[in-house]
Amino acid sequence: MKIGFIGYGSMGSMIIKGLLGAKAVSMGDIIISTRTPHKLDELKRNYPQITIAENNVTLANKSNKIFLFVTTGQVRNVIEEIKDQLSPDTHIIHISAGLHMELLENIFSGKISRVIPSLTSEVGEGVSLICHNRKVTESEKEFVEDLFGNISSTKVISENDLEVGTDLTSCAPAFMAYMMMCFANAGAQKSNLTQAETEDMVIKTLYGTAKLLNEKEMSFEDVISRVATKGGITEEGIILLEKELPLLFHDLFETTLRKREKVLDDLKKQYI
Ligand SMILES: NC(=O)c1ccc[n+]([C@@H]2O[C@H](COP(=O)([O-])OP(=O)(O)OC[C@H]3O[C@@H](n4cnc5c(N)ncnc54)[C@H](OP(=O)(O)O)[C@@H]3O)[C@@H](O)[C@H]2O)c1
Repeated sequence: MKIGFIGYGSMGSMIIKGLLGAKAVSMGDIIISTRTPHKLDELKRNYPQITIAENNVTLANKSNKIFLFVTTGQVRNVIEEIKDQLSPDTHIIHISAGLHMELLENIFSGKISRVIPSLTSEVGEGVSLICHNRKVTESEKEFVEDLFGNISSTKVISENDLEVGTDLTSCAPAFMAYMMMCFANAGAQKSNLTQAETEDMVIKTLYGTAKLLNEKEMSFEDVISRVATKGGITEEGIILLEKELPLLFHDLFETTLRKREKVLDDLKKQYI
């Protein structure tokens, strides 16, 4: 049996190229299908031994591990389409935000893993969050965790914490990029520096700060106390941030949570 991947969009292409590039899967072992097949032309040129399935049914017929990288709204259609090819041994691994295990179990009673990838896997960094249902065996869990370990760190997490976890790892690149963009914008407005210059300064400083935290194992507090000396200028800035940011982040989680509840309500109409 081959390892099947359905959907070659933003996430699917990043994960598949990442896994092939890291030699985590060999090209002869994988089969791919996607709605617009010509999007696979370049991949096929670079990895000639991969199998391109003519449709999802053919793929499901040849795979017992099937990764679904389609949009959340398409997961049900795909499962319905390949239903006759699925066996108790089939392991479905999907990445769809908001699609709770319980909902998918209403239409597929077998082995399911949920993975929340992050755009940061594009550079082999960040965290992929993973949870499995009770039917997934230890070796199948290990397979999924090892696979995503090739393109990111992995964290197995309770489904109850997956929503906040998703904000912290998968939505976070957008949140962080937006915050840094505002920081650079304000710097450009308050100086003679161009936007391009302030952005470059902020990006390099962000990268350096991440390295300090990660490679030097400094904590957030360590970094703050090394820079914001008592009575100094940075400390004044930190005092302002202390006043404004905790509430803002509290509201951020509340806002995404409300949106998630709405997405879940819509999905319930499809799955229950
Ligand atoms: N973007 C993120 O940072 C992120 C993070 C975590 C999780 N996710 C989740 O990842 C999932 C995919 O997101 P994405 O951003 O990769 O979406 P995307 O770029 O729209 O990719 C979806 C892919 O699935 C294909 N597809 C759709 N319906 C199909 C079908 N019935 N059969 C075969 N292929 C089909 C699409 O084909 P076409 O090329 O024809 O459109 C496209 O290649 C979503 O559920 C999202 O919640 C995204």
